[in-house]
Order: sequence, then C-alpha cells, then structure tokens
Amino acid sequence: MGTSARLRRILEAPGAARAAGAQDALTARLVEEAGFDVVWASSFVTSASRGLPDMSLLTMTDYLQAAQWMARATPLPVLADCDTGFGNRLNVALTVRSHEEAGVAGICIEDKVFPKRNSFMSSGQRLEDREEFAARVGVAKEAQRSPDFVVVARTEALIAGSGMDDAIGRARAYEAAGADAILIHSKYERPDEIEEFLRRWKGSVPVVAVPTTYYTWNIEEASRAGVSLVIYANQTMRASVQAVRDVLLRIRAEGDSASSEPDMAPVKEIFRLTEADTWNAIDA
Ligand code: SPV
Ligand code: MG
Repeated sequence: MGTSARLRRILEAPGAARAAGAQDALTARLVEEAGFDVVWASSFVTSASRGLPDMSLLTMTDYLQAAQWMARATPLPVLADCDTGFGNRLNVALTVRSHEEAGVAGICIEDKVFPKRNSFMSSGQRLEDREEFAARVGVAKEAQRSPDFVVVARTEALIAGSGMDDAIGRARAYEAAGADAILIHSKYERPDEIEEFLRRWKGSVPVVAVPTTYYTWNIEEASRAGVSLVIYANQTMRASVQAVRDVLLRIRAEGDSASSEPDMAPVKEIFRLTEADTWNAIDA
C-alpha cells in the first residue's frame, strides 16, 4: 500500500491517531520509533530550524526538500504543512504535484492570506476569502495524480477571531470543494472550542486537531470527541532546544562533558538511527 493510502486509512480508522512534528529526517525517525502514526512536516519547526520565524519566509522548495528528506527516512506517511499553498491557485497546484512526486503522503493548506504568520503570533491573522480558498482546495484535488493523495483543508477562523459559525461554514465549504479532512485550529488554552466545533460539525470527512495550547487534552478525550488525528506539532523542537541548551551550558560551566554523558545519545545510537550498517554493507 502506498504512503497516501496509508494516511487515508489512518484518518478514516475509528479513534484518534497521532502525528508528531518534525523538521528533518532524523526527527522523523524518532517520531516513527516512538510509535506515532504520522509525521507532520511542520512549517513552524522547519522555519525555526533555519533560524527563521514561521512567517512565510521559506519557499515552497525549502519545505518540499525538508518533507522529502523525512519521507525518505521513514515508512510513516508524511503530512506536509504547506501553509497557504504559497500563493494563488497555480502555486497550490504546483505544491500538490511537487509533494506528491516527492513521496509525501498528503499536504495541509490553511485559509489565511499569503504571507501568513504562525497561528500563535498575536497580530496579522488575516483570513482568505472563503470562496477563494474553497476554489484552491478544488484546484489541489484536481492537481493530484493518484486518487489516494490527501489534501487536508485547515481553517484558521477561530485563530483569526471570526467565530464558530464562520469556522463551521468554512469547514463545510472546504469539504464540499473536495477536502479529504478538515483541520480546525484553536489557540484557546482549553479544548472547549474544538469540542464545540466537533459537536456542531456534521460533515463526513475526518477532523484533525493540534493541541498546543490546550495540551491537557488527552488522546482518549480527543478520541471520544470525534477527532481522527491529533498533531503534536512542535513538541520535538521545543524538547530539543531545551535539552541542547542544558547540555551546552553544563559543558561550558564544567569544562568537560562528563556529567552530560548520561543525557546524550551515545555515538553508536546515532550510527544506528542513520542506518550506518546498511551503508557499510553497500560499501563492502
Ligand atoms: C505548524 O506546526 O507549523 C503548524 C501548527 O502549523 S501551529 O504552529 O500550531 O500553527
Ligand atoms: Mg504551520
């Protein structure tokens, strides 16, 4: 079964599956080894790994390359966060074709105006016109070559403050335009908004949620509320920043890395994660 068909099956299975964010192949392997179902090629963490804020600064090609490395590294389906689709309808079509050719299982596009800013930035959350974004979803579906390729439509209505009615209306319009799933995003610190959306949503495609601010929302609760995929979008990056900083400060303060050794993966573990044996076998 191809990677897009597997993503489709994961989204359609009963209960909530789990995705975790990554910016590179090694992180994608860690996501796989930890038992997650999907790799989320996050625009936030990919931008951060280049020292840039998530403000539409990288190009489609930059994100594509990152997602392709992830797709090469793991058999898990990679769902690529493609922001707004990087421009107009033409850019959306090219985004779909390029990601599909790269072995990425699906893309997610959001209904904000390009250039977009990360959803947790307090200003500049501008929504795209509903009909225009629905048309882009339709263009994305027409651009894909395999019937399995997944297009997730994300509404930022709750992020931009345009209200629950608008969120529901947009989700319905995107489903009608052919979206394979709806991602509903919220920056509220409790899951109330998402649960209300799920109660009112009468669509038939799966719903995806990203509990970054409402992080106490357990996978069991998400499942009961009717979510099909929960994305832990940026926890990998936040964990590594903290861990790297702690070790660096200790090495600097202590003059050697002795006390940090138990907190670091052994060199051999990096060899294993990068499949050095496989490459040695080719060399032999
Ligand atoms: C990302 O991970 O890039 C996302 C999710 O789009 S969020 O940062 O919550 O907007
Ligand atoms: Mg993003």
